[in-house]
Amino acid sequence: MSRFNFTTANIPSLTGKVALVTGGNSGIGEVAVQELARAGAKVYVSGRSQQRVAAAIARVKLIVPDASLESLIVDFSLISDSIAGARKFLNFEDRLDILVANAGIASVPASLTAEGWEIMFATNHLGHFAFVTTLLPLLKQTSQNSNVRVVITSSALYLRSGAIDYEDLRTAESGLHGNVAVIKSIMKRYSRSKLANVQFAVGLSEKIKDYKNIFVNVVHPGVVSTNITNNPSDLGWAIKKIVFLVQAVAALSAADGSKTILFAATDERIVKQNIKGKLINPSSNYFSVKDVVVVDPNEEGSNQEHIDKLWATSEEAVKQIEQS
Ligand SMILES: NC(=O)c1ccc[n+]([C@@H]2O[C@H](COP(=O)([O-])OP(=O)(O)OC[C@H]3O[C@@H](n4cnc5c(N)ncnc54)[C@H](OP(=O)(O)O)[C@@H]3O)[C@@H](O)[C@H]2O)c1
Repeated sequence: MSRFNFTTANIPSLTGKVALVTGGNSGIGEVAVQELARAGAKVYVSGRSQQRVAAAIARVKLIVPDASLESLIVDFSLISDSIAGARKFLNFEDRLDILVANAGIASVPASLTAEGWEIMFATNHLGHFAFVTTLLPLLKQTSQNSNVRVVITSSALYLRSGAIDYEDLRTAESGLHGNVAVIKSIMKRYSRSKLANVQFAVGLSEKIKDYKNIFVNVVHPGVVSTNITNNPSDLGWAIKKIVFLVQAVAALSAADGSKTILFAATDERIVKQNIKGKLINPSSNYFSVKDVVVVDPNEEGSNQEHIDKLWATSEEAVKQIEQS
């Protein structure tokens, strides 16, 4: 475990760099966009709604008037749209220095996407798998004469997931009654999607280890007051009130919550100390963050057999969509 003091003052000049942040129109993603742009990067703000992305670009421009920002509209719940979005980006740019795979949902009711996958697993993992792997040739090309960062946003709740049950990814639970059943369902589906984020990051880092200039890491932001709990959910009003109170009283600001992303995406110590395939946590989940802490993912997060299974399942899912 290593601990690093980190503030946005540590971010070096990013002039000439191209960055892309998924889920860049809200929460910690929006702060990441703002700080990457402030440091001089050209930043693609990716989200599913043209209107919400345009509004975020306008907010960031108020704070950083000379920010260089572009939009990239992608619905990450669909593999097809994620591939199409990545291909669109490949037509726009001939380099990608910083890729932050951050868009996510947490509390939505169980349902299947039009492609037949449980919606949290699809949005938080499969869409991003398709997107990142489609962009991989460009990341490799960029790394020939520059350092490249890939940052995947997970959550400490990945620790609550047991090994992924692959028989359970194409079923939508229906007719759940009561908060206990709903919370159990959310925990199961969210924590396994966040375990997939960890396994994907560790697996990707290992697969491209010959590309010495690419640094892939996975981050937990802390418990952060954002829009993540505002999505429609089956939770009762009492639970929603508790979540509201935690957010109001103890949760981190989006600025503090974005620190682990910004450290992984920009800090020069990542390169100096060859930090790859690691999990980056905030020094505190609540109130404020002074330092970031680099650790090894837990045993399940780095289980090679299970990473191979995730990779094979995800590749097969992408192949099926490409052939359909
Ligand atoms: N907040 C926390 O306490 C916490 C803790 C641990 C991990 N995280 C992780 O942090 C990441 C960012 O979340 P946040 O807290 O900043 O929440 P947020 O404010 O709700 O931001 C989530 C972003 O993801 C986008 N998104 C959701 N579904 C999408 C889809 N199908 N296609 C494209 N974009 C989509 C959202 O777009 P819309 O605006 O269109 O919904 C939004 O831009 C997530 O991966 C989350 O799991 C958050």
